[in-house]
Amino acid sequence: MVVASGKKAVVVGGMGVIGRNLLRWLERNTDWQLVGLSRRPPDFPTRARFVSVDLLDRDQAEEKLAGLDDVTHVFYAAFQQAETWAGHDAPNLALLRNSVEPIAAVSKVLEHVHLVEGTKIYGSHLGPFKTPAKESDPPHMLPNFYHTQETWLRRFRQGKPWSFSALRPQTVCGIAFGNPMNLVVGLAVYAAISKELGLPLRYPGSEKAYRSLYQVTDSELLAACMHWCATSPAARDEVFNITNTDYFRWEHVWPGFAEAFGMKPGGVQTIRLAEFMADKAELWASMQKKYDLRPIPWKELVAWPFVDYCLTRDYDVMTDTIKIRKAGFHLCEDSEAMFARLFAELRAMRVIP
Ligand SMILES: NC(=O)c1ccc[n+]([C@@H]2O[C@H](COP(=O)([O-])OP(=O)(O)OC[C@H]3O[C@@H](n4cnc5c(N)ncnc54)[C@H](OP(=O)(O)O)[C@@H]3O)[C@@H](O)[C@H]2O)c1
Repeated sequence: MVVASGKKAVVVGGMGVIGRNLLRWLERNTDWQLVGLSRRPPDFPTRARFVSVDLLDRDQAEEKLAGLDDVTHVFYAAFQQAETWAGHDAPNLALLRNSVEPIAAVSKVLEHVHLVEGTKIYGSHLGPFKTPAKESDPPHMLPNFYHTQETWLRRFRQGKPWSFSALRPQTVCGIAFGNPMNLVVGLAVYAAISKELGLPLRYPGSEKAYRSLYQVTDSELLAACMHWCATSPAARDEVFNITNTDYFRWEHVWPGFAEAFGMKPGGVQTIRLAEFMADKAELWASMQKKYDLRPIPWKELVAWPFVDYCLTRDYDVMTDTIKIRKAGFHLCEDSEAMFARLFAELRAMRVIP
């Protein structure tokens, strides 16, 4: 006889690249009741109940979350982009507080709050940093919104019966649309456009980035890890780095990408995709017709500045995952196999030809 677990999870930011893939993982691997929070309704099939809420509005958040009195787990993966790095602090702390505080106030069965942070806490976005970065390394000069969120959560958790955990993934790879940080869809659309134009698959980032070490985190592996954090005593009140565990140089994976798209690999030719993709909306619309692709609006397909960002890190980007492995989470993924799987998934979904 299967005994229902009685667990109920809220995924804050359920439309995001992390949130939607976590929902998918929880749907496939648990019997948990699921609730997603975001402003938009879901654009993918899900058994989660979505609550449309603007979490920057405290009154609205309290009103809409008042009924969540049987929530056992909160997974926080919302994000608000800002113009400057320091500008991320206030809105992202507000999103966290306005979701966690109302739920913690009404749910007496809350067991765990999980927070997603990122490698930028070590200053990976600022320039060369100590690699591989360890969880015990100090953050860069503040403000850093992950640090602000974690500091707040640690304090808020004091004296409460529930625990918290946090993960620091590096470049999350999964399928999502209409979000500011999504490398995989960007790579796939760039390749499809290059192919349509009869070009080889050139690396549009910088020469130094092409040869530097990089790491990524599969959104499916991340979802499994978030679940592990939320349910394992070894993760109680702990913070961990998480990546696929391997690392690579773009120069070595690029020929495989070209092969996946049936193209010749080109060398490095540095262009800013945000600039060179700006006039490709019409071309993409014609490709959508020609290849019977999903009519995802061009503006929602890819946020090019993030793709430029990932492909121009002129230094090694590496975090150390010993801590989480010693604590008992042992899943890993081959990044080249992950890219191939996600490109194939995008093709099967008719997002790319
Ligand atoms: N993506 C990566 O490669 C990556 C790597 C490392 C760390 N991280 C970190 O992981 C966290 C989640 O990132 P992500 O990339 O998954 O974010 P994302 O794809 O941009 O998703 C953000 C989610 O937050 C929701 N949201 C934003 N503003 C909201 C508001 N005012 N009220 C309610 N919901 C709101 C969005 O839905 P609506 O827009 O519909 O409201 C969406 O569901 C962030 O802290 C990010 O820095 C991301």
